[in-house]
Amino acid sequence: MTPLSSGKAAALNGRLRAPGDKSVSHRALILGSLAIGRSRISGLLEGEDVLRTAAAMGALGAGIAREADGSWRIDGVGLGGLAEPEEVLDLGNSGTGTRLLMGLVASHAMTTFFTGDASLRRRPMARVSEPLARIGARIIAREGGRLPLAVIGASSPLPITYRLPVASAQVKSAVLLAGLNAPGETTVIEPQPTRDHSERMLRHFGAEVSISDEQNARRITLKGQPELKAADLTVPGDPSSAAFPAVAALILPGSEMVIEGVGVNPLRTGLFETLKEMGADLAFANERVAGGEPVADLALRAGALRGVEVPAERAPRMIDEYPILAVAAAFASGRTVMHGLAELRVKESDRLSAIARGLAACGVKVAVAGDTLAVEGNGAPPAGGAAIAAKLDHRIAMAFLVLGMAAERPVRIDDGETIATSFPGFVEVMNGLGARIAPASS
Ligand code: S3P
Repeated sequence: MTPLSSGKAAALNGRLRAPGDKSVSHRALILGSLAIGRSRISGLLEGEDVLRTAAAMGALGAGIAREADGSWRIDGVGLGGLAEPEEVLDLGNSGTGTRLLMGLVASHAMTTFFTGDASLRRRPMARVSEPLARIGARIIAREGGRLPLAVIGASSPLPITYRLPVASAQVKSAVLLAGLNAPGETTVIEPQPTRDHSERMLRHFGAEVSISDEQNARRITLKGQPELKAADLTVPGDPSSAAFPAVAALILPGSEMVIEGVGVNPLRTGLFETLKEMGADLAFANERVAGGEPVADLALRAGALRGVEVPAERAPRMIDEYPILAVAAAFASGRTVMHGLAELRVKESDRLSAIARGLAACGVKVAVAGDTLAVEGNGAPPAGGAAIAAKLDHRIAMAFLVLGMAAERPVRIDDGETIATSFPGFVEVMNGLGARIAPASS
């Protein structure tokens, strides 16, 4: 356990580069490992979650190494060329790594065992096991479909058409990855569009993916058994990580910040849209495309925020950003109401209750009704001064450290170790900009 305390910071000034996108990094390692030949990935997130996926792909037979210049070299085994891992794959804290890899191995005639940390072992995996069983895999799991579990891959995988019962890019990606090694066409229908990094990257590596928007749904079809070719790729900065310094800059008077190279895929930018509606001085500059993904520099200036209504339809495009949005809402004037948050209950922790409890402990008026969260700000810094249990959840930890930077009294979190899953160096980066985050006595 590494307890941390975050006290009142001065105005934040400077430029920074957000760490590599976690979602894109997992996918780059997986697809690079399936391609024939050598791929080079630059800007890969070197966070715990992604390193677990790198180790897992190594255990499945790919050659993965970090080069002296910081890029990563992947020698792919070719589609269908994965080897049965000798050991249990331990994905640590990573739901994305687990679910994507369960999909990948489900269409390979071999048995793969998965486990993870206490947080991951509590998370629902049946949402992935269910479509994978339709493809022909057998999954033997603990009660509720939880880890540890074994995937006994199908020897003759079937292409399926699957309508997502929950808006989940992880489930969509698991089905598409399984479909890679199945003959014919695998189709996923999503009633609410979720992040499309898998679709973009599958195309980048040479797969045929067709996407059509139908009445109230998006239909994604992958042509099975493609020849994936090695490709170089630059990973954009993670908007979900940029969100923390961005909100810190908005709520600390006098701050001015530029975050360079942030991924602005429209299926990820719900937070930035919402902050603009709240009156934030936030702009995209230097918009460009890198590695098949839109990227921009984010320019931010502190100023007054006002409460807004955040519709449920926006949730998939900002699903990881509610903890930090709730912090921004605590500094705004008026009520911010966030709808459609049921999925927050099954993230690295039950984020809906972690946010509500933590904000209340910091003196913020907050209410949860069903899957709606309401935060009442009075346009002034909240009291702070609370001790927050991070519950093995990196985003809860970072959100409350940001709150502490601008609250009346310091905020303490019980454990900052999990921050390294998505934002290694977070404390140093924030302190470099003017934050006062320091180890606290346990
Ligand atoms: C992710 C999808 C989201 C998100 C997670 C990363 C991905 O989860 O919360 O951090 O990379 O596909 P769901 O798709 O389960 O909502």
